[in-house]
Amino acid sequence: MDIAVIGSNMVDLISYIHRMPSEGETVEAPEFRMGCGGKGANQAVAASRLGAEVVMITRVGNDVFADTTLENFRKNGIDTTHVLRTDASSGVAPIFVDPESRNSILIIKGANAYLSPADVEDAREDIAKCKLIVLQLEIPLDTVYATIELGKVLGIPVLLNPAPVAPELDLERICGIEFFMPNESELELITGMPVDTLDDVGKATDVLLGAGITNIIVTLGSRGAMWAHAYGREIIKAPVVRAVDTTGAGDAFIGCFAKEWVDHGDVTAAIRAGNRYAADSVTRHGTQTSYALADGSLPAD
Ligand code: RIB
Ligand code: NA
Repeated sequence: MDIAVIGSNMVDLISYIHRMPSEGETVEAPEFRMGCGGKGANQAVAASRLGAEVVMITRVGNDVFADTTLENFRKNGIDTTHVLRTDASSGVAPIFVDPESRNSILIIKGANAYLSPADVEDAREDIAKCKLIVLQLEIPLDTVYATIELGKVLGIPVLLNPAPVAPELDLERICGIEFFMPNESELELITGMPVDTLDDVGKATDVLLGAGITNIIVTLGSRGAMWAHAYGREIIKAPVVRAVDTTGAGDAFIGCFAKEWVDHGDVTAAIRAGNRYAADSVTRHGTQTSYALADGSLPAD
């Protein structure tokens, strides 16, 4: 086993719109697509499509979306031993993508809100076989903290993607993690510092380094990523592409980064690979539907 993802799954309900309706207004939109999403599942699927062995610890609901999600994990070769059923709705994400490919995402956590520290403890034996633990913030914060503690006990490095941002995230309880991967707006909210320039971004990463996080990797969208660590910081640029849908690009980056880092331990190379993989994903519609296999092709079906 390579990677344990302890996180969310959602079904993405994506509307491609000309514009958002205002209050009381009805507006027609040209297109709708449904696909599997959720930040945890997206990262797990990206890593698995690239060849990593992934176990997912997550909760699905008691509705039709739960079966869709389980079937999707299986098709993508993800270990589903710890995919738990919950008497709640599954997580869903109504997403709106405008003609400039900008997205607005609503999430209804549903079953994801019930993923508990005890669920993680129950998966301890399988987590212990992994080389990296990957976390996001679509599950309860207590579960995130408990997983970080477990990672310490087991001696397994932890990657935390603080998305969607939780302003109450307690930096003291995440210190010691190996990788912290926010985007710019998450970084701004977590540190309370401006991120208007790359210099600002760098200064904000210093605060996190000071809080005891080993590597901060800030995803900068089409500009690539900044890697900050004890010995300095660098920007690793992304290839230029024509974006049609950027939904889930951050997750593509993280899933690919995780797989590459687990294989080779080279952070710069893993960021470069993540940049390429995420750039490729934005040239296609949807979240997981836009994630390629290791040979660059898309899965059949
Ligand atoms: O990061 C993109 C994801 O955020 C979507 O798949 C949606 O489900 C939300 O969780
Ligand atoms: Na995409």
